[in-house]
Amino acid sequence: MYQLKDKRILLGVTGGIAAYKAAVLLRLLRQQGADVRVVMTKNATEFVTPLTFQALSNKPVHTDLLDVEAETAMGHIELARWADLILIAPASANFIARYANGFAEDLLSTLCLAADSDVVIAPAMNQKMWLHEATQANIDKLKDRSVIILGPVEGDQACGEIGPGRLLEPEGLVAEVSRLFQTDVLAGSRIMITAGPTRELIDPVRFISNRSSGRMGYAIANAAIEAGADVTVISGPVSISSPDRAGIKTVVSANEMHKEVMKSINNIDIFIATAAVADYRLTNISEQKIKKSSDILELSLTKNPDILAEVAALNNAPFTVGFAAETENLEENAQEKLKLKNLDMIAANRVGGDIGFDSDNNALTIFWKNGRQELQKASKEKLARKLIHLVADRYNEKNTNQTH
Ligand code: C5P
Repeated sequence: MYQLKDKRILLGVTGGIAAYKAAVLLRLLRQQGADVRVVMTKNATEFVTPLTFQALSNKPVHTDLLDVEAETAMGHIELARWADLILIAPASANFIARYANGFAEDLLSTLCLAADSDVVIAPAMNQKMWLHEATQANIDKLKDRSVIILGPVEGDQACGEIGPGRLLEPEGLVAEVSRLFQTDVLAGSRIMITAGPTRELIDPVRFISNRSSGRMGYAIANAAIEAGADVTVISGPVSISSPDRAGIKTVVSANEMHKEVMKSINNIDIFIATAAVADYRLTNISEQKIKKSSDILELSLTKNPDILAEVAALNNAPFTVGFAAETENLEENAQEKLKLKNLDMIAANRVGGDIGFDSDNNALTIFWKNGRQELQKASKEKLARKLIHLVADRYNEKNTNQTH
C-alpha cells in the first residue's frame, strides 16, 4: 500500500549542502504515490540544478516569483492552493528567518504565506546557526503558528563540526509526513457513505441519471479511512477507482441504494450522503426498447425514497451528514434541508462553473445547528479532509453531550 497515494506535496528546497538529499526525498515521496512539485530558492540552485528535480519529479521546477511562463502554466496562488502539504527540506536559517517574519520576496516564502495547507519544515544548518538565539526565536514563532518542525538531528556536519543541525534523513521525513495524513480523529467509528449518481432505467438500453462523478464521496471515504474509521461505501455507477481500504457495494438505482443502506445502517455511527440520488424513477420500466413513433412521449415518474431522511428519522439514528447541491439560494435551501430532514450537518455546494459536479474542485459551506464554516475552493480531496475534521468535532461533541 502506498502511504502517500495521490497526495499533492509541494517540496521546497532551500540553499544548503543538504539540498542534495532533497533529491532522494523526492524519489521516496514519489515511490509512496505522492504527486510532487518542486520549488527551489535561488540559493538552492547553487547546490543542485533544477534539472535534477525536474527529471525526478517529471514536472517543471518553479524557481521564480515573476516567471511569466511558469505563472501562465500554474500561478503561484494556484500552486499554493494545489498543495495538500508543503514540505521544506532542507530549510536554511535564512529561509526560516524570512518565513517567520512574513517576507514574501521570493516564490517559496510567498507560497508559504498563501497556503492553506499544513507547512512542514525540516531545518538543516551548521549547529551554531541552529542553536543561535535568532534561529531559535524564529523556530518558536513558527511553532506558535502551527508550522510543523521535523528535526534537525545531531551528528557529523558537512562543515566538520558535530552537533544538532543535520537534516532528518529522507526515510524519516517520509515516515513523518505519512503520519501527518493519518489523523485518527475518528478511530474506531463505523462510517457509511453513499456516493455517485443513481440510474433509473427507462427501458433495457436507456436511463435517467445525472452528472455526479462520485469523486467527492470517494474522497470523503479516503479521508475517513485516514481518520481511522471503518468505512463502507454504497456507490452508484462511477468510472473512478475505489478507495483502497473501504468496503464497497455497487448499486444502480435509488431503490437498490436504499435497500443496501437500510440492510446495514444499524451498525453505523456516522452516515454521510454524498450520492446524487435520483428523486424520481420510472413508474413502469418498459421491458422492450421504446420505439420512436409519436411526436411526444410521456414518461410517468414515481418519487424515490429519500434515503438520508429515512436514516435520520430512525430511532437510533447515526450522526447524519447530507449534501445540498444547489444552483441558487444556497444557504436558504441548505438550512431548510438541515431542519426538514433532521440532519446533524449539511454540506452545501453551488454547482456550475468549474466547481461541483464532474469537476476536480469544489467549495463547500458547512452548516450545523448552531454553526457554519466556509471551506474555500480547493480540490475535492483537500475539502474532504477538512469536512471529516468538522464531522469528527461535531460527532465527538454530540457523543460527549449524550453521555453526560
Ligand atoms: O433533497 P435533496 O435531494 O436535495 O437532498 C440532498 C441530500 O439528500 C443528499 O445528501 C443526498 O445524498 C440525499 N438524498 C437521499 N435520497 C434521495 C435524495 C437525496 O439520500 N432520494
